Amino acid sequence: MTSLINHLHAFIREVELTEEEWALAIQFLTRTGQMCDEKRQEFILLSDITGVTMLVDAINHRLPDGATESTIFGPFYRKGAPELPMGATISQDGLGESVVVTGRVLSTDGTPIPDALLDVWETDENGLYEQQDPEQPDMNLRGKFRTDREGRYCFVGIKPVSYAIPDDGPVGQLLRALGRHPFRPAHIHLLISANGFAPVTTHLFVKGDRYLDSDAVFGTKDSLVVDFIQHNSEEEAAHYHVAVPFYKVEYDFALKPLSKQTHFRITISYTHLTLP
Ligand code: BEZ
Ligand code: FE
Repeated sequence: MTSLINHLHAFIREVELTEEEWALAIQFLTRTGQMCDEKRQEFILLSDITGVTMLVDAINHRLPDGATESTIFGPFYRKGAPELPMGATISQDGLGESVVVTGRVLSTDGTPIPDALLDVWETDENGLYEQQDPEQPDMNLRGKFRTDREGRYCFVGIKPVSYAIPDDGPVGQLLRALGRHPFRPAHIHLLISANGFAPVTTHLFVKGDRYLDSDAVFGTKDSLVVDFIQHNSEEEAAHYHVAVPFYKVEYDFALKPLSKQTHFRITISYTHLTLP
């Protein structure tokens, strides 16, 4: 609190805040709070568009070289997505262009991780998540997949589209006042976990998307931008139970092994304490 208040006072001194500006700020924060309910969290959205969420993420997920980078979780995750077999589609309404996403989940030393869990979610072709759109079936475009013995995974989704974050509240007004757009570059969300490894919340972004350099929530990372390659082979399409043309993405994820050091330290100090 001491640090926060020091910085807050320094900001007010630096800009010589007027009483009108103070009143406007109070009004803005009040409206932000009033916009929140069980479905809408306008304060997190405010944190997202000011880069605070990604800064907290960067500080708390300092990963070793080679580990898949994390990015913003967002408000549209739902627990309880169905666990689906290898290669199944997460699209229940059949809209959009199919994409086959495949690769491996590895440890940072390159060892494949069997039985890792990939929990994936994305918007439909209209840029809306299933819970934002009464036309979509429950749990549309959500699914959980497990890696096989070689650490391989495969699922079918749809080629994601860029979409606007909710901008009908105070955060949207702030974006407009700043001359900023509300769009996020097209992406698929993934939450990847495995026993003995640090889980990672991440995305796959579409190379070439027009919003990659101006993500409204600063979530883009170069290492997560991938080529969605178009395929036209009827034979390959039949193999994946998709129509032509379809897209294919190949991506290996790497997880950081959980440290055994804490255990080790506790054991040593315990041994030390119990020595006569
Ligand atoms: C999302 O990618 O789902 C998201 C992230 C931050 C704010 C709004 C949406
Ligand atoms: Fe998203």
